[in-house]
Amino acid sequence: MEFDDIFLETIDSTQEYAKKNVDKFDISKITCITADFQTKGKGRFNREWLSPKEDNLMITFYFQLKTNTLHLHSITHILAISLIKVLRDNNLDPKIKWPNDVMLDNKKLSGILCEIQTKNDKADIFLGIGINVNANIEFLNTIDQKATSLKVETKKTWDKKNLLENLKLVFSKNLKLFKEKGFEPFHEKFENLLLYKGEKITFFDGQKEHKGILHSISSDGQLNLYMPDKEMLTFAAGDILCK
Ligand code: BTN
Repeated sequence: MEFDDIFLETIDSTQEYAKKNVDKFDISKITCITADFQTKGKGRFNREWLSPKEDNLMITFYFQLKTNTLHLHSITHILAISLIKVLRDNNLDPKIKWPNDVMLDNKKLSGILCEIQTKNDKADIFLGIGINVNANIEFLNTIDQKATSLKVETKKTWDKKNLLENLKLVFSKNLKLFKEKGFEPFHEKFENLLLYKGEKITFFDGQKEHKGILHSISSDGQLNLYMPDKEMLTFAAGDILCK
C-alpha cells in the first residue's frame, strides 16, 4: 500500500491532528503523519508522551480497515512486530512487553497508542508510535519509567528518516497480510518475543490489578494470565505493571 506523508514541525499531538483532519485523507493510502515536536503527546491510559525536539520519531499512521477484519484490535501488535523486524535487521535484540511496548535491555524504547473510530462497516485506525531514537540519557532519566533510546543502546546517532522509511516498508507488508489473515500468521513470532513469559507479573486491566503468571498469548493476540487458583484470565487490553 502506498503512503501519503505529512510532516509537521510542532503540533499538539499527531493523533489529534489525524483525527481532526481525517476527512482530508485519501483512504486508498496509509497517511503517515510525523512531527518533530509535540506539545501534548499522548500515551495509553491518558498518560503523556514526552520527547525532546527533533531527537525522536513521533508518528501516527492513519488508514481504514473493515470493522469485520479478523482480530482488528491486534493491529497494534502488528506495528510493534514491524518495528522489531527493523531493529533486528540492525542487529538489535528487542522484546515486547505486552501489549505493544518495544523494549531493549528491559527498558522502554517505543510505545504504541491505537485509537479506533468505527462508522458503519468501516473503522478509522489512528495508530500512533513514539520511538526514542536519538534522545540522550539526561532526557530519558526524566521519564517516570525505565526508558532507553537507540542512541544510548548503540552509542551512535541514528538516521531518523531512514528508520522511518524502513518501518513504513515493513509495516505496509505486514498490514497487507493482517488484512488477509488477521493476527494468526504473526502469533508465534509475537509470543516468542514476549518479555516475562512464564513469569509472575502484576497486571492492570484498566480498573484493577491481578497477580498471576504470564502464560501465553491467544491466537487473536490477547493475554492469558494464569491465576493462583488455576483459573486462566484473558485480557484484550491492559498493562503489565511490574514483575
Ligand atoms: C504509550 O506507550 O503509552 C503509547 C505512546 C504513544 C506515543 C505516540 S507519539 C506519536 C503519537 N502521538 C501521540 O500523541 N501519541 C503517539
